[in-house]
Amino acid sequence: MFHAQILTLFPEFFNSPLSCSIPKRAIEASLARVDCIQIRDFSTDKHRTVDDKPYGGGPGMLMKPEPVVAAIRQARKRDPQTHVVMLTPSGIRFGQSKALEYVEKAHITLLCGRYEGFDERICDEVDEQLSLGDYVLSGGEPAALSVLDAVIRLLPGVLGSADSAVLDSFTEEGILDWPHYTRPEVFEGKRVPSVLLSGNHEKIEAWRREQAIIRSKLWCKNHQ
Ligand code: ADE
Repeated sequence: MFHAQILTLFPEFFNSPLSCSIPKRAIEASLARVDCIQIRDFSTDKHRTVDDKPYGGGPGMLMKPEPVVAAIRQARKRDPQTHVVMLTPSGIRFGQSKALEYVEKAHITLLCGRYEGFDERICDEVDEQLSLGDYVLSGGEPAALSVLDAVIRLLPGVLGSADSAVLDSFTEEGILDWPHYTRPEVFEGKRVPSVLLSGNHEKIEAWRREQAIIRSKLWCKNHQ
């Protein structure tokens, strides 16, 4: 079974998203297990402190090393196979290939930070640093949730139709998905492309590939 552990100051953040739709089904079917670990439980002072001011001055607070490192070690103890990933804007960029890699690993721990970031010594305790993109979130939790969702839906047996994940955008060597249409045939004057109504499966297949290539080229142009 796929096992994710989430180290966070806000375990409640994950309650509702994991009790909906695909993640809910995967967890109920015992295809995935997600355990949240409260980092604050590893603080040893009476105020349960997890943050402190940066040496050298500057704005904001940092995650203190002691409780975070203790939480990471607890996650490794609970699941010795786990691969520990720190969510941070300075990490390597997450993408579909990384999601597939985590499916293979099957044991991951996602470390979520708050405040201005982590004490640098925490970085020595993790296996990888991962970013969702070039923007700063108010914490690692939304990033961890996106990673978890992208991975869970790829687990064998999670999606209804056998090939719906195989045909996803990006899965097939960076090719985007083709445009999709459902009823009605005409919506506000916009028609469904006639080839899709033709019943000619060869033609439909060719049209879809062509459209996917056009989209992918356009995507590349917009991301230069
Ligand atoms: N924490 C804050 N911003 C983040 C980002 N862009 N990716 C991952 N973790 C983050």
